[in-house]
Amino acid sequence: MRKYIISHREGIDGLVLQDDAAIPELRGPTDIKIRIKYLSLNARDLQIVSNDYPAPHDVPQDCVPVSDGCGIVEAVGEEVTLFKVGDKVAPVFPQGHHYEEDLALRTLKRGLGGAIDGVAADYFVCDQEDAVHIPSNFDCLQGSTLPVGFTTAWSSLFSHHPRLQAGQTVLCLGTGGVSLCAAQIALSAGARVILTSSSQTKLDKVSKLLKEQLPPRAPQNAIQTIDYSKIDDWDVEARKLNGGKGVDIVIEIAGRATLARSIRSTKQGGLVAISGYMSDYKPIPDHLIQEDLAKVILYSAANVRGVFVCNREDFKTAVSALEMGGVKPIIDKVFKFEDLKEAYRYMEAGRHIGKVCIEL
Ligand SMILES: NC(=O)c1ccc[n+]([C@@H]2O[C@H](COP(=O)([O-])OP(=O)(O)OC[C@H]3O[C@@H](n4cnc5c(N)ncnc54)[C@H](OP(=O)(O)O)[C@@H]3O)[C@@H](O)[C@H]2O)c1
Repeated sequence: MRKYIISHREGIDGLVLQDDAAIPELRGPTDIKIRIKYLSLNARDLQIVSNDYPAPHDVPQDCVPVSDGCGIVEAVGEEVTLFKVGDKVAPVFPQGHHYEEDLALRTLKRGLGGAIDGVAADYFVCDQEDAVHIPSNFDCLQGSTLPVGFTTAWSSLFSHHPRLQAGQTVLCLGTGGVSLCAAQIALSAGARVILTSSSQTKLDKVSKLLKEQLPPRAPQNAIQTIDYSKIDDWDVEARKLNGGKGVDIVIEIAGRATLARSIRSTKQGGLVAISGYMSDYKPIPDHLIQEDLAKVILYSAANVRGVFVCNREDFKTAVSALEMGGVKPIIDKVFKFEDLKEAYRYMEAGRHIGKVCIEL
């Protein structure tokens, strides 16, 4: 079978395609063998190949890259009860993360495509407890966007307290994978969203795509946008767009350059759900680095919480909610498997909105 390996971690050229790898066999009676059909990329995949991933574990030599994939069950062990041959499934990114509220180190050490082999291969074998059915109205391309982007978005909105309620407002930073997944979940749950981006073109495109999925009688202001390349005080603008009040939840993926403003955008008792730190890749002005976050948090009285994907039970609930809400993932571009490096480069350039996928 074909598979990629990470031969070195000095950049995207470390990805090497092999076409004579052995097809993995079931290792035990509860294993399933998945014929992988599509992959999707996350910022983590780039961080791993460029040695920028601050994981508390080693990345094994020749690890198979990419955490997110979807495919069709091709074989099942004799004790498998959850899946049958032909089912469309996605492996869970942190294998073994089934019920606990937060990710434990032992399951982080079983993260696909970084701690253990990922899914950039024709076949993937895992225990039945380490995969989920995708929504029945998703194809495998759409299913490939689930394991990290949608689970992190779900977790930010629903896995911890305070949780999103209908009628509330969610501020989503940027137009990448996690933020757009969160915007889609929030809208389908009856919330309003405010999206920020460095590009008005991206905002126009995203607004149009999101509006197509809105219920027919949704209000005009269900989707609002801020171009943060033009509006420096986007926290003030976010409050203005939210009727002068702080928002209920912020999907905080940018880190040091944005955190203080994210907190100031939030109402007292609201939630700033931090899952990423994209601003680390560009120079950050000194005044932002020097800001006293303790005081910002104290005077805002917001909850500031780290979020790491979600467990398998929550993943299944998210799948059900996406199915019921008729949510369709926003997919920017689909590359061929042999062009995986190009897909990484496209993502690195930051030109995408939503998800970048690969067809096997
Ligand atoms: N904790 C977890 O479980 C978890 C899970 C998934 C991802 N993450 C982290 O979350 C972050 C996003 O991941 P992703 O896969 O969604 O990445 P992605 O698809 O590459 O999206 C990145 C987005 O970040 C935005 N961005 C960059 N700098 C920004 C800034 N200063 N202010 C606002 N937005 C900014 C960009 O938006 P514009 O181009 O529109 O400006 C870009 O679209 C990464 O740091 C990743 O490591 C964490």
